Amino acid sequence: MKTIVAATKNKHKIMEIEAITGRFGMNIIPRDEAGVSDVEIPETGTSFEENSYIKAYEIMKLSGQITIADDSGLVVDCIGGAPGVYSARFAAFPGIWPGDDDKGTADSSDRDNNSKLLELIKGFSFEERTARFVSVITMVFPDGRTIAARGEVEGHLLLEERGEGGFGYDPIFIPLGYDRTFGELPAELKNSISHRANALKMLKEKLENIAIG
Ligand code: IMP
Repeated sequence: MKTIVAATKNKHKIMEIEAITGRFGMNIIPRDEAGVSDVEIPETGTSFEENSYIKAYEIMKLSGQITIADDSGLVVDCIGGAPGVYSARFAAFPGIWPGDDDKGTADSSDRDNNSKLLELIKGFSFEERTARFVSVITMVFPDGRTIAARGEVEGHLLLEERGEGGFGYDPIFIPLGYDRTFGELPAELKNSISHRANALKMLKEKLENIAIG
């Protein structure tokens, strides 16, 4: 089984990536197990694709091993697509978008991010509160080859948090076709329909067309 380093330090993301890639025969190890821990990679890109590549490439350079990165976030239509690539640090800046002084670092807590988002969307109807989670998974090989795949899941936002499962914006997001949030649905179900699951399925298809070795 091929060992692949996960660029993220987010334990929830690692658990989800492991749960999904385990079915594909990949062995994911956290980056600290590959000797890379105390490094912060500023996410200075303006797209999920850019940030995903930055993270995978930087950790691949430090570990010398095949590296996988996820850059993800929540795109909310009624507030112009925010927080998008700024999802992890949404509450760290005052407006809907960060200012020119944004350094690409300094994440804020899930609780603060959710409170800020709930305040911004409270004047919109359920039909208007459409949103999607996006995940771009990038795999970078030591020889420079790169494979990227994007996955999305559509849904609606609630005006209150529901459920203890998952992480991030999960307690306010109801995927289309369900009546419970990602915070309430079983992890196995989230991991079969999520943006991350969809991106990883596409990555697997792309990997089947090349020899990783
Ligand atoms: P990243 O680490 O820069 O990719 O930021 C991802 C951020 O997007 C997380 O901190 C969460 O706020 C949000 N996010 C991404 N995926 C999920 C998910 O599956 N559930 C809930 N929130 C998510």
